[in-house]
Amino acid sequence: MTKLAIIYYSATGHGTTMAKRVAAAAEAAGAEVRVRHIAETRDPAAFAQNPAWTANYEATKDLPAASGDDVVWADAVIFGSPTRFASTTSQFQTFMDSLGGLWAQGKLADKVYAAWTSTESPHGGQETTLVSLYMSLMHWGGIIVPPGYTHPLKFVDGNPYGVSLVANRENIHDLDEATANALDHLAQRVVSVADRLSAR
Ligand SMILES: Cc1cc2nc3c(=O)[nH]c(=O)nc-3n(C[C@H](O)[C@H](O)[C@H](O)COP(=O)(O)O)c2cc1C
Repeated sequence: MTKLAIIYYSATGHGTTMAKRVAAAAEAAGAEVRVRHIAETRDPAAFAQNPAWTANYEATKDLPAASGDDVVWADAVIFGSPTRFASTTSQFQTFMDSLGGLWAQGKLADKVYAAWTSTESPHGGQETTLVSLYMSLMHWGGIIVPPGYTHPLKFVDGNPYGVSLVANRENIHDLDEATANALDHLAQRVVSVADRLSAR
């Protein structure tokens, strides 16, 4: 059974919804799933004026936060980060930077990786975020499994690099159908490839 870690950062909750969707699809595909949020690095007082950020922080702060052990445990990892100025968030990068010791021991290599992101505007840097995230995984010797156009539904959401949500400003966390389907497909594909890699 493939062990899948879902490791994500979310400020205002869209990423939390995406993580739940990916987890459900991966479990349905037969994986053992660990969902871990990346801990907030900012002082909550700094975003107290943002009710959605505060609500997501309160809802997740006591859940187990991601650590390097979660990556080591996993056969496959799906990462998620919102887009900030066309790349990942500082909170996400802080987590990635914490993995240097494991990288030096070769413990991040030979795993299956993929990712999702979200933006506020269509084409607001979704693909650049995914590509920049994947560059770190190349340094790890990771096996990057992008969705490509491996299913007809990928011609609907249209992102072959991963999955990307256009997060609405009203902070309604419902996923549109194309994104939900693409998240399901990403989970199924990652689990399927990881299953086949471990069937030596
Ligand atoms: C500092 C900052 C920079 C951002 N940069 C972008 C951007 O480059 N393009 C874009 O479309 N949205 C941008 N956004 C909006 C976020 O991508 C959006 O709020 C996020 O995807 C919501 O995800 P979450 O609810 O999981 O935090 C930015 C937000 C912040 C706070």
